Amino acid sequence: MKEKLKKIVADAIKEVNSALKEADVLNVKSKFLGKKSELSLLMKDIKNMSVEDKKIYGPLFNKIKTDLELKINEKLEEIQSKIDIHLDETLPTDEEIGSLHPISIVAKDVTDILKRMGFTIVNGPEMEKEYYNFEALNIPKTHPARDMQDTYWLSNNDLLRTHTSPNQVRAMQKFNAPLRICAPGRCFRNEDMDHSHETTFFQLEGMVIDKNVSISNLIYVMEGMLKEIFKSDVKVRLRPGFFPFVEPGFELDCSCLICGGKGCSTCKNSGWIELCPCGMIHPNVLKESNIDPEIYSGFAFGLGLTRLAMMKYKISDIRILNSGDLRKLSEFNIE
Ligand code: DAH
Repeated sequence: MKEKLKKIVADAIKEVNSALKEADVLNVKSKFLGKKSELSLLMKDIKNMSVEDKKIYGPLFNKIKTDLELKINEKLEEIQSKIDIHLDETLPTDEEIGSLHPISIVAKDVTDILKRMGFTIVNGPEMEKEYYNFEALNIPKTHPARDMQDTYWLSNNDLLRTHTSPNQVRAMQKFNAPLRICAPGRCFRNEDMDHSHETTFFQLEGMVIDKNVSISNLIYVMEGMLKEIFKSDVKVRLRPGFFPFVEPGFELDCSCLICGGKGCSTCKNSGWIELCPCGMIHPNVLKESNIDPEIYSGFAFGLGLTRLAMMKYKISDIRILNSGDLRKLSEFNIE
């Protein structure tokens, strides 16, 4: 037995000494001290030994173990200290300090504002059921509005959602009325890409349902939200716009931020910029989600977050946003 132990110790020390890397030392450790090591197997035999042998071998095994552990730890420290010597912190590195993506920043800005106005943030799946994306929003299979929202269909007949509006339905069916939610998220459409069209973009859906909610409430909330977003005294106006899930539906314009409404090239001399479709929720949409339109009314809006980020950071090509090209993205001087 003693001979066996001597050999184990000698082998172990030899291997520790010749180890070059931390990983080598750890391998030696598990080979000689691990549960399946020869030493551990021999130790199991102690219980079958005579009392005298136990007195000898018990402490001997312990000593061997602690000595080997010590030796291994010394070797590890030695290797680690050598690594430190090679680390020259004065050498230049390629690392750059990152920043949040422009879309993440505007999404956070807007949701922070809406949270203060009492909105709850919700979200839903990007792979959506046809029912939530279209049917429950008063867009039946044969409706021409589906043409404007061509998307990617999945093999199980689900689709990539074309807008954040399905969150309206999910929220109504989960929480019923009264309700005040917003839902930022990624949307998809089958688009030919150019500087202002992407297959993937971001929107933020907003929805308020309560008793006696009117168009005045819609205007008040939108104006309040946009004033805070742009940190200036923007005016809003509504033009008629068609969306099957609202009645009446509007295109909301805000006074041009560049010229203050006087007329410039950005607003094509009109003084207004088209910003956010919205409207009073269609009774069919409320009914479909078990909310009685005789008792409750509400409004909804779909703010284009991608558009907002492009306006805020003066990004002229939408494709930059999803490109992952840090050289381009870091041009926007984002705080
Ligand atoms: N979901 C619409 C789209 O992407 C935008 C929209 C229009 C959202 C009117 C609304 C709304 O909530 O009321 O084209």
